Amino acid sequence: MGVSLIGVPTDVGAGVRGARMGPEALRVAGLALALQQSGLDVRDCGNIRGPANPWQEPVDGYRHLPEVAQWNELVHKVVHFELQSGRLPIMLGGDHCLGIGSISAVARHCRETGKKLRVLWLDAHADFNTAALTPSGNIHGMPVACLCGHGPRELVEIGGHVPAISPREIVQIGIRSVDAGEKRFVHEMGIEVFDMRFIDEMGIRHTMEMALDGLDANTHLHVSLDVDFLDPVIAPGVGTTVRGGPNYREAQLCMEMIADTGLLASLDIVELNPALDVRNQTAELAVDLVESLFGKSTLMRQVTDAT
Ligand code: ARG
Ligand code: MN
Ligand code: MN
Ligand code: MN
Repeated sequence: MGVSLIGVPTDVGAGVRGARMGPEALRVAGLALALQQSGLDVRDCGNIRGPANPWQEPVDGYRHLPEVAQWNELVHKVVHFELQSGRLPIMLGGDHCLGIGSISAVARHCRETGKKLRVLWLDAHADFNTAALTPSGNIHGMPVACLCGHGPRELVEIGGHVPAISPREIVQIGIRSVDAGEKRFVHEMGIEVFDMRFIDEMGIRHTMEMALDGLDANTHLHVSLDVDFLDPVIAPGVGTTVRGGPNYREAQLCMEMIADTGLLASLDIVELNPALDVRNQTAELAVDLVESLFGKSTLMRQVTDAT
């Protein structure tokens, strides 16, 4: 299988700078080689070039809206092109606002090819804010709302189909920090959320069985991995840490169960902030998890029916 690495060095959607260095940190941690060793044909497309981070205060509830829109138009084009070329795009972020461009392209590709879409949103946050609800104005807290049709035209209309996705096509896992108004809105829109309370009580295995339920051979599975999904003890290199996330083994099992479906068709790795990391350990952990996501396992395991 062919995978394409797409660097998206952006932090215009975040509240602290540094995520723009994420793509290089992932490269230095050996992402391409790890994927090659998993038997994949890897092409590093280099970085997308977009507008600089003007580092300004929010305007009408949005920080850097014009820049976020320009970055996401570019991401959309590149991701759609790679999918059309039959390749599996891997976004090296960059902050989570890039999910708007990436997932809108995936959804468009699915409409064009008659595929079903399932997005797994692995994150400490729901990223379901709007200008009226956001406490920060940071657009990396809004991509899921935008994809579901709630947000500024510049972002909601990327890809030309509004909404880009239906709330039924996305499942959120690992959530443990949701703002007050955002909480109501997530509930109102009927997003399926497996929060940390659910994971604590049911375990990762049962959670993932539910999150992956109903997939079939015609499903395009997209994983949007916000590195702050992971417990900050193992993943300190992110701007918005929230304690109480999945530990190393739980994260590994999560990736392995996704790999077992054989349906992974696109991936975002976002919010890695090398300026906050400790000797690149968070980037190295991300590479380690991505190996599992692409099927690395200890033994020659037989994939059994998970039900
Ligand atoms: N809910 C907070 C906000 O909207 C934090 C969002 C963090 N999002 C992220 N992708 N790290 O400002
Ligand atoms: Mn597809
Ligand atoms: Mn997050
Ligand atoms: Mn996020």
